[in-house]
Amino acid sequence: MYNEINNLIIFLFIVYIYSPKMSVSTKIFKSMNQSSWIRRMFEDGLVLKEKFGENNVFDFSLGNPNLEPPSEFYKILRKLALNPPQGIHRYMPNAGYITTRNAIANQLSKEINIQFTSDHIIMTCGTGGGLNVIIKTLVDPNDEVLIFSPYFVEYLFYIDNHNAKHKIVPTNQNFLPNINALAKSITKKTKMIIINSPNNPTGVVYSEDVLSSIGKTIQEKEKLFGTQIYLVSDEPYRKILFDNLRYPHVFPHHTRTIITTSHSKDLALAGERIGYIAINPSIESNKDLSDGLTFSNRILGFVNAPALMQNIISQLQNVSVDILDYQNKRDILYNNLTSIGYSIIKPQGAFYIFPKSPIKDDILFAEKLREEKILVVPGSGFGKPGYFRIAYCVDIDIINRSLNGFSNVLKRFN
Ligand SMILES: Cc1ncc(COP(=O)(O)O)c(C=O)c1O
Repeated sequence: MYNEINNLIIFLFIVYIYSPKMSVSTKIFKSMNQSSWIRRMFEDGLVLKEKFGENNVFDFSLGNPNLEPPSEFYKILRKLALNPPQGIHRYMPNAGYITTRNAIANQLSKEINIQFTSDHIIMTCGTGGGLNVIIKTLVDPNDEVLIFSPYFVEYLFYIDNHNAKHKIVPTNQNFLPNINALAKSITKKTKMIIINSPNNPTGVVYSEDVLSSIGKTIQEKEKLFGTQIYLVSDEPYRKILFDNLRYPHVFPHHTRTIITTSHSKDLALAGERIGYIAINPSIESNKDLSDGLTFSNRILGFVNAPALMQNIISQLQNVSVDILDYQNKRDILYNNLTSIGYSIIKPQGAFYIFPKSPIKDDILFAEKLREEKILVVPGSGFGKPGYFRIAYCVDIDIINRSLNGFSNVLKRFN
């Protein structure tokens, strides 16, 4: 009898621990628990830092830029604060200020050699906001959205937010889209393909050839199925490019192309939530599309992108943080880790490096690194087991002092 009561108590305790608490839906409860390796590592990091001190933990878990925004940002911010234009804090058109959208359209026209106007630009609350607005506007329930693995894990939730279905397409050994697999994955129900270059978590950049192959594959399938498929390019790292690489733009490779980007990374304004969507001017029904995107921006509750930031970034389209700082960090990590014996595809942009885990179990390997107080995210968190991500947007001192730990753990497995 005593044992039965005891077992019942244990059972009820387990049910309590693993069941949704009153205030959270079952769906959100499940998603929270399955989702984020990054969050788990971040929380682990807080515990370790508390125990060993901030400087003794090598936290590479988060893509949160350590650089401060450029001085030009503060100059404009100060000017606006001292002489605020009348009405600067009021509501505005849901697509954003026309002056800001014009500034972005002009900049894109110069970069890409396609004529953009303010009609093609919608200001958003970051790229995360932009992606949600795009998906909301384009998908019907059960439409398919294709993403490539390894992927930014939020895509799964963003797609689910709008009742679409995600489908994962593998990449090749260089983390570039496997075009045959892409062709096989596209069906009548495919509405959208999301690409991300420079890529999180791998740092690879898609070349013109890769983009052209993606475009051609989509067009073949559109013809075959009589459908319209959108290519959505998620580009928050577009300006973080190394070795004088020029960014290969996606617009020339497919008509139904939409990009979304932000100044979270290139101006280190991640907390300010400022970004935009740009649609290809050659999309036939581009007025309907931009009206739809603007409407979604409103009804998702974003209403419009932050006013103050729109005023500032319209004057900063040619400015970015010091990209060479990230390139230098990439070089230190890549050169040292490869010479120790790690196998790595050299990143060409962003601030991530994605080495192969020396053992099959990337989660165990991340745990072993943790014993050296090094926090990384296992590739499993990006749908690519067998690898791990280092986010090197941290102080150079952290990188330099972590190298011994990376070496120690590798030696144990060799
Ligand atoms: C691939 C990718 N897409 C989108 C985002 C969201 O960025 P934002 O701050 O612009 O919403 C991130 C942020 O880390 C990212 O890595």
